[in-house]
Amino acid sequence: MEPQPMVDRVTWLRGPLSNCAQVPDGGQTPSRLVLLGAPGVGKGTQAELLTGHLRACHLSTGEVFRAAGIRSDYDLSPAMKEALDYMRRGELVPDSTVWEMVRERGACLRCGGGFILDGFPRTLRQAESLKNWMDSERLALTAVVSYDLPENEIVSRLGGRRTCEMCKAVFHLTERAPRVVGRCDHCGGNLFQREDDRPESIRVRLEAYRRSTEPLIKFYREVGLLISVNAAGSPEQIFQKTLADLASREQLSSL
Ligand code: AP5
Repeated sequence: MEPQPMVDRVTWLRGPLSNCAQVPDGGQTPSRLVLLGAPGVGKGTQAELLTGHLRACHLSTGEVFRAAGIRSDYDLSPAMKEALDYMRRGELVPDSTVWEMVRERGACLRCGGGFILDGFPRTLRQAESLKNWMDSERLALTAVVSYDLPENEIVSRLGGRRTCEMCKAVFHLTERAPRVVGRCDHCGGNLFQREDDRPESIRVRLEAYRRSTEPLIKFYREVGLLISVNAAGSPEQIFQKTLADLASREQLSSL
């Protein structure tokens, strides 16, 4: 599959003072999705593929924290500095800090192109904050896609991950190798290994997922939004399964 052009995400990555050059057109019914799943299951990879297809913006909370951590001209608030420490250890950032950051990017959630949330919400408190905010804005989620994979495969995906320092596209040393070693297929940027992909942080992240994020599966199943997708197979196969499940959900809701 050819890499898809990325949509502009500057408002999400840098905050509300930056404006995206072009706002994607999501048509009459823009998709508003949440992607759930353990660290390394492939949410970011699927979000990228879904963005190419649906034109909805990929909104990752982890990426905002990482972008803040590497930008030397970014004046970090004490809360953001604290958030980066949590992230490096593999622990969850406190709910209040995460929600403040998402809420101040409300324009991205209202965007006519729709959105694909990746890594948020991650606790019941975050899910409730999102729901209350969306209700007050008269917006609704289209679906919540939950990806599943055995833990040993997750660890191997994380160990081989490389990310573009410019456009944040995600590759894998063997499973999704870039065309040129160390260079991004989309923009030519350098590829790097994330700090929290060290074994000791991976253990903490998986434990935080089991404790705090897994309960969201039940939360979204009970409100009829959950789609469960087996994340074994190639990225393209999982992408096709996701599209098929989204389409059959759409058909059911139009009956
Ligand atoms: P975040 O950035 O959200 O990371 P994560 O949830 O841990 O998920 P990852 O990005 O590690 O994995 P992914 O599922 O996106 O997998 P990927 O597609 O890259 O969060 C980082 C940190 O920020 C958190 O630990 C926390 O501290 C903080 N944080 C963020 N949001 C927060 C929140 N809401 N509340 C509190 N704290 C928050 O794929 C992984 C690798 O596998 C890649 O190399 C990829 O190429 C490869 N791959 C993907 N699919 C396949 C496939 N099908 N087959 C083979 N390889 C594949």
